[in-house]
Parts: sequence; C-alpha cells; structure tokens
Amino acid sequence: MKHYQTLEKVFQKLNDIDQAKSVLHWDMAVHMPAGGAEARSEQLATLSDVSHAIITDRGIKSLLEGAASEKNTLDAWQVANLREMKRRWQHATAVPQRLVSDLTRAGAECEMVWRKARAENDFKSFAPHLKKVVGITREIAKAKGAALGCSPYDALLDQYDPGRTSAQVDVVFKDLEAFLPEFTGQVLEKQRSQGEPLALEGSFPIETQKQLSEKVLDIVGFDRNKGRLDTSHHPFCGGYPTDVRITTRYNENEFLSSVMAVLHESGHAMYEAALPASWYSQPVGQARGMSVHESQSLITEMQAGRNPGFIRYIAPILQKAFGGKGDSWDAENLVRLCNQAKPSFIRVDADEVTYPAHIILRYYIERYLIGGEMEVEDLPDAWAQGMQKFLGITPDTDANGCMQDIHWTDGSFGYFPTYTLGAIYAAQLFASAKETNGDVVPGLERGDFAPMITWLNEKIHQQGSYYATADDLITAATGKPLDVETYKAHLKARYLG
Ligand code: CO
Repeated sequence: MKHYQTLEKVFQKLNDIDQAKSVLHWDMAVHMPAGGAEARSEQLATLSDVSHAIITDRGIKSLLEGAASEKNTLDAWQVANLREMKRRWQHATAVPQRLVSDLTRAGAECEMVWRKARAENDFKSFAPHLKKVVGITREIAKAKGAALGCSPYDALLDQYDPGRTSAQVDVVFKDLEAFLPEFTGQVLEKQRSQGEPLALEGSFPIETQKQLSEKVLDIVGFDRNKGRLDTSHHPFCGGYPTDVRITTRYNENEFLSSVMAVLHESGHAMYEAALPASWYSQPVGQARGMSVHESQSLITEMQAGRNPGFIRYIAPILQKAFGGKGDSWDAENLVRLCNQAKPSFIRVDADEVTYPAHIILRYYIERYLIGGEMEVEDLPDAWAQGMQKFLGITPDTDANGCMQDIHWTDGSFGYFPTYTLGAIYAAQLFASAKETNGDVVPGLERGDFAPMITWLNEKIHQQGSYYATADDLITAATGKPLDVETYKAHLKARYLG
C-alpha cells in the first residue's frame, strides 16, 4: 500500500494549507485592519496556487492508479479516503489553471463593485462584472461536467454537495413549490388571528449579550479548549476540528437574532469538533458536504433552539440577564417571537417558513444562468416575478432584490440549494433522534443538548465522509434519503399545530 501511503502524506499537506487559509480568513473578518486587505488576498491566492500545484502534479494520477490496484490491502475507511482523494483530484484537474485564476480575479473585482453598487442600488454598474463572472463560471461548469460525466450545473452542485443532482433537487423543490404558498397563507392567517407577539423594547448592552452567548455555548456543550467565539460583520464558522472559530454580531436594540446566530454557528462547530480524530488530516475525515453541514446548524438553531420547550427553559435566563419585566418577556410571547413567519425581501432575515421560497427562486435563476437560458440583464425582472410568485411581494429595489447576496459575485453558483436541503435533513435527523432517544426533547426543556448532540456525534459527526454522498449518510442515520415529507410534517406541527 505504498502508493496509498504516499497519497496520505500529500493530502496531509493540502489539509495543513486549507487550515491555515481558514484561520487567515477568520482573522480577516474578525481582527484585520483594512490596510491589511491587499497583502492578505495575496497570501490567500498564493496558498491556493500552492495547493493547486500540489494536487494537479502529474505524479498524483499514477499514485491514484497505483493505490487503486492496492485496494485489497486497504480497510474500508482507507478505501473511502481514496475515493475522496480521487474526487478532489477530478475537480482540481478538470479545469485549466487559467480559468481558475480568471475566476479568482473577476470574482474579487465583482465583489468589490457589488459592495458599492448594492449600497447605491446601482444594478447597471454591477451587471457587466457579474456577466464576466457568469461567463467564466459557465466555462468551468462545462469543463467539470465533461470530466465528471454530468451536466454543467450538476458539476457545480457537486462542488458543495458531492453526488447531488439537479434531478433530486427538482423533485423536492417542485413539492415545496406546490406546498408552501397555501401553507404559508394558513400560517399567516393563524398568526394574524392570535395578534402580533409583543416586541422586546429597550437597550441590550453588548457586554451582557456577550455573556449570554457564552452561556448559550455552555448549554450546547461547546468545548472552549477546541474553539472560540468572536464578533464579525456576518456570523460564520471557520477553523478546523481542534480549533473551531465561530462568530456572531451584536445589535444594542435587539438580541434574539444574535442568540439564534450563536446557536446556528455552534451547530456547525459541534460537527467540526466531533469529526473522526484519527482521520483528522485526510479527506475522509472532513464533513460530508454543505447540505449536511447546514443540517447541523439548523437542527441546533431551528429544531432545538426555537423549540418551544427550549425557549421556555431559556426565558427566565433572558429575563434575568436584561432585567426584563412585563408581558413581552413572558415565555409564551418569546416562543411566538422566535417562531414568527413574515414574507420579506431579504433572505438572511427570513424565517423558517418563508426561507425555502428565497432558495427555490435562486436555484431556478442560477440554473438558467449557467445553462444559458437566462442572461444577467434579465435578473431584475426574473427576481421580481419570482418573489411575486413565491412570496406575493415585489422588492422595492434591486439592492433588496437580486443584489442582496454575496454568493454569485465570486462564482459560488450551486451553493444555494444546500440551505434548504440542510433544513430538510435537519427535520429528518431531529425526528429520528427524538424517536430513538426519549430524552432529546426533555433535555431541551432542562437546557441540556447532550442527548441530541450525543446522537448526532455517533450518527453524523463521527462518520466524516465515510459515506459517498449526503443521502447515503442520512439513510444510514435515519433509514431514509432526502425526505421532504418529514420536513413538511415538522412545519405543520410547529406552525399550525
Ligand atoms: Co449555516
């Protein structure tokens, strides 16, 4: 097995570079002064070039072939590791280096223009830059599709969610498209008949909010020896299993969204921290794609964190932290505040009920853009029509419409579906965890996430990328692949029950 062992050494190096990049990114978002931006993007680009040179080296192909012939000497995890190595190599070698550099450059420029254009609601100056990014991404998608033997768009999906096909996504999104409009109407009607929940008025000191975040991390079971929480403009999770970096943001006028962001990111962090330690430096030891990653944040935030039982537990903690008194601080009002549905223009502010509509709209648009059935110039109209069709509202501006997200600016097409696929998996996993361990929900009611997290540790986290696809992993954990019915049942029980 000498070929295989040589490959392990190569991939360990690649892993070291990825981890260093992740902490450089974290530093950029949390600490770096603006003056450091140029040098930092050079450093990150150089590290990417070094990685690319290592994995596309001509020797790798023969090592992969040699290792394949040693297969009968490898154990099941080594075989899975070899499969993941080959997958990365296929993605890296499918595309000429020229296209990769072109996309990096065009993406950085497009993102810069986007920041200004969005602030000024100026689609016209943004469009040519996005057009360039779309053009390069189309070429990359075509090259990857040819190498992987799938359609160009499916090749992009595969980058974030290995093995995912648009045929699978179509089935669940068509189902949701039929289900959601009427369901959302029923939820809004029910919430109207109950009257609006009372808003929490006042000023909530950032220092108190920070202490509250740490308390939330204690409840979830986040290990400070292997991670930390900081503040950034947008919440995210970075780092690596023994050093997970999560962030949130604070607003003195409102604290619930920060609490929810901490829960969300801690779900991502608990996944990273519990990946199989013995495979830590290898591809098979990494998370099984972005749909599964998002399922871990959403089971922690949506299924557990917004669960009425948990909110009733945390209500007195919130009251005490901020000296909250009166009806608005009542646990039942907090339950309603944390589970309020309301169609809105902005995806990142959307609630659980209206969120999928934002994703379905983006999914259709990016497929048409990559497939050449739509051009960048068509975006504003397509967006307005889609929002009207899916949510019954029309954005007042392009800034609140097709220019609101950063994803497409750097060519991250194929990423959006993972948010809703993750929400579906989260509902499936929570249902199975509840069924196998009767203490999952009582645990939440006493502020103890351990019963749920322990189940996830075993069924999801410890499995790394042992299974070839997210669906294989979820089937092993719950008995079913992607199952939109369980998700719909969750939505109905929570919002109409
Ligand atoms: Co997330």
